[in-house]
Amino acid sequence: PVPLVIDTDTAQDDCVALLVGLLDPEADLRAVTMVAGNVGFERQLRNALLTLNAAGRLGGVPVHAGCRRPLMRPRVGAENVHGDGVGGLSMDDADRAAEDEHGVDALVRLAAEHAGELSVVAIGPLTNIASAALKDPAFAANVKTLYIMGGSNNGRGNITPAAEFNFYVDPEAAKAVFAAGFEIVVVPWHPLTLERAVFGPAALAGIAELGTPLARFFTRICGPTLEFDRSVGIDGTTHPDSLTAALLLHPELVRASGRYNVDVETSGEITRGYAAMSWGVHGLEPNATVVEDVDAGGFLDYLTNLLARPVEP
Ligand code: BDR
Ligand code: CA
Repeated sequence: PVPLVIDTDTAQDDCVALLVGLLDPEADLRAVTMVAGNVGFERQLRNALLTLNAAGRLGGVPVHAGCRRPLMRPRVGAENVHGDGVGGLSMDDADRAAEDEHGVDALVRLAAEHAGELSVVAIGPLTNIASAALKDPAFAANVKTLYIMGGSNNGRGNITPAAEFNFYVDPEAAKAVFAAGFEIVVVPWHPLTLERAVFGPAALAGIAELGTPLARFFTRICGPTLEFDRSVGIDGTTHPDSLTAALLLHPELVRASGRYNVDVETSGEITRGYAAMSWGVHGLEPNATVVEDVDAGGFLDYLTNLLARPVEP
């Protein structure tokens, strides 16, 4: 199994990504680290614990609170998209505290303990990852591969026309991460998520019909986002974060990818968080692999099979 940490702003598809880390036999999830993003910080922590509980692993995986706001800016949330992030599930169902160790310290420690072997799946703003790289100059080299959900590579952002949410929220952190020397794989919002990782009515009905506790959990937590997506003309739920985790564990789902130099805009008037992806004609060294196409049917089958599993206590 692949040793990994998931760094998350836990709401909706972040929860599904946690299920991937918790339930896929290919995954050895060593910790969950929390970063400020989608919904309130305490709510995100609770959402992560609720997800562990749904997977029958409430006691099994450490959850660490990391940075509570971006490096240089006030927090931006996405409550308008995700609601509370779990479709109103009760906080009481997951009664456990987070670890005392800060998320950034946990990332640095685990990467050093498993140097060259630990992968990190970063599915929120990159504040914790940038902070870990600043704290330990060896962090970037110790991490085997950093999978990043973020960016939108042709001007179809989801929070502004130019930017995808995770890069928009903490552009300075994102810029620092691409300059830090990590082995990076990027899973962008557009075109990848919007064209390959939207579960439409038939897919959602197929999951609901499974009738398992995990399928019910999935349907419930995706409810608010589905409503939002429909209001903006997307007929289904979006799964960028779980796709990112799945691609680490199952690289065979990747159909096409390219080497790019990725840099992130921090100061543009209308382009905050824009990810510039240079494809080789500008004299810039590639610093990331950008996933350009995936096996969409294979990904849906993969998640459906995961949600069909009984929860083992
Ligand atoms: C990203 O933004 C968040 O709302 C989702 O959790 C995902 O990580 C997509 O832009
Ligand atoms: Ca996320």
